[in-house]
Amino acid sequence: MLKQSGLGIAITGSGSATPAAVVDNHRLATLVETSDEWITTRTGIKSRRLATPEESLSAIATSAAKNAIAMAGITPADLDLIILATSTSDDLFGSACKIQAELGASRAVAFDLTAACSGFVFGLVTAAQFIRTGVYQNVLLIGADILSRWVDWSDRRTCVLFGDGAGAVVLQANESDRLLGFEIRSDGTQNNCLNLAYQGQSKELIDGVSIAQGTYQPITMNGKEVYRFAVQKVPEVIEKALFRANLTVEEVDWLLLHQANQRILDAVANRLKIPTHKVISNMAHYGNTSAASIPIALDEAVRQGKIQPGDIIATSGFGAGLTWGAAIFQWAR
Ligand code: UT7
Repeated sequence: MLKQSGLGIAITGSGSATPAAVVDNHRLATLVETSDEWITTRTGIKSRRLATPEESLSAIATSAAKNAIAMAGITPADLDLIILATSTSDDLFGSACKIQAELGASRAVAFDLTAACSGFVFGLVTAAQFIRTGVYQNVLLIGADILSRWVDWSDRRTCVLFGDGAGAVVLQANESDRLLGFEIRSDGTQNNCLNLAYQGQSKELIDGVSIAQGTYQPITMNGKEVYRFAVQKVPEVIEKALFRANLTVEEVDWLLLHQANQRILDAVANRLKIPTHKVISNMAHYGNTSAASIPIALDEAVRQGKIQPGDIIATSGFGAGLTWGAAIFQWAR
């Protein structure tokens, strides 16, 4: 089953970090017209963590990264590459270099990657290309988002869904290849379903030359369309990745989806005929943490001893873009 080559890839460490402040559904119901009952039955979310003004994206991402590096048994100086998957950098020029400095990973090249809630899976595939081509051996991949800074807190259709956090993995060159298959996709024709878009006011700079200056506007979402998209495309892309891995659905030990909505997880598992006990879910505690949701859930399941060495994990991210993707990997530690 495993491809034998000197240019394989293995995930050798995971880590996560979430802000301390917890806001449960009851407290949200004091902010917008909603209820614990509605949020729980429609989404499975019970509470979420929110970053305080003092907590930066790079700080929580660095904490998650340190935990992943420790589990992998390497030092920051061993890192060749740092990829930060995020839509909510502290700085529009990117936050990966700040994390590189905070870690003291002086040899590593660092950059941000944006693919919304698919960012972790897209980052995994990107990291794999650098390792498989023999360019780099040790890669840190972080998925981190602070969407609370970009949610419209007066819009009950979106504000109840999101939370903040960071998760990270270390990927290393490995004798046998533990990334067994993947497939990533984009469809920009549905771009207007989920946006955090820039809006500028036209301003005449000099005679005959106008520019647009403004800011990013809070998240807008067509929930029904995104739901429909996820339930249709996620099973398809997982099946494609499994085909590439030459594995059957029955051989999957864990289904690890982007934690957007429990109903999406249930519907995807149902379509793939994957039993509930194989579905990893922690969104009740964190809500949708965008690019961070998969690595946070992975790290929790590993540290709880649920995921064991040799287990086959089918993971899938999906979201704005629209973007979606799946990766099948074997836990190596
Ligand atoms: O990372 C990807 C990010 N996005 C997603 O994954 C979102 C995917 N979509 C979803 O998860 C679901 O569509 C939602 C959870 C967002 C919404 O669930 P729904 O079952 O599609 O509800 P709906 O939008 O059809 O709204 C049903 C009703 C509406 O009332 P009316 O028009 O029927 O009277 C809404 O106004 O529920 C109302 N509603 C709420 N009520 C209480 C919407 N949000 C809330 C709320 N509390 N928070």
